[in-house]
Amino acid sequence: MTRLLVSAGPTHEPIDRVRYLANRSSGKLGYAIAGAGVARGFDVELVSGPTQLAFPAGVRGCHVETALEMQAALEERFDVCDVLVMAAAVADYRPAERVEGKIKKQAGETHRVLELVINPDILATLALRRRPGQVLVGFALEAVPDLEQAERKRRAKGVDWLVLNEPKTLSADRSDFTLLSESGPLARFEAIPKAEFAMELLGRVAT
Ligand code: CTP
Repeated sequence: MTRLLVSAGPTHEPIDRVRYLANRSSGKLGYAIAGAGVARGFDVELVSGPTQLAFPAGVRGCHVETALEMQAALEERFDVCDVLVMAAAVADYRPAERVEGKIKKQAGETHRVLELVINPDILATLALRRRPGQVLVGFALEAVPDLEQAERKRRAKGVDWLVLNEPKTLSADRSDFTLLSESGPLARFEAIPKAEFAMELLGRVAT
């Protein structure tokens, strides 16, 4: 049975007890891919950032908050998977320091500098230890889609397939997607429902 590992949703990077850095990912596409995996008869595990969604029936996995937690959860599950679809919108940066309590305004304060450090590139790190036969799928979100740049990103990440999409896809139910790979032809999907794209994607990458 094909073992599919999917990451989905945003990550939240705490600033203090009450605040965090986040992004607009809803998790819908990653959850749709996990659901499509079940429909195709795969054994599916989902590592999800914070979302409003319920795990699709038949999907196992866990919830995480931060990029570092997502990395740990995926590292634990990666070696036994056949296909990894990294649909999560992992935060590129996290606050350098996590304040235990709540940061208070200072009297007369007009500026505050928040120092950020870069998070590890989870996908690229996993790709370094992939075993032969494992299929890796990454995503790229570009305001102005550029195929050459996307192909460079696919190679730099060390993945077999890259799904190129645009910011308008965030939270939407349908979107435009371009699928690039080393071998297969370029595939373009326009205004396609995410659930439908999820089935198409798995049909191509997991055969
Ligand atoms: N990713 C990851 N770890 C990170 C950042 C991203 O694993 N710290 C994964 C995402 O899950 C996605 C792909 O890498 O599959 C996105 O790569 P990224 O370089 O963040 O692409 P963009 O979203 O296009 O960002 P940028 O515009 O900064 O290049």
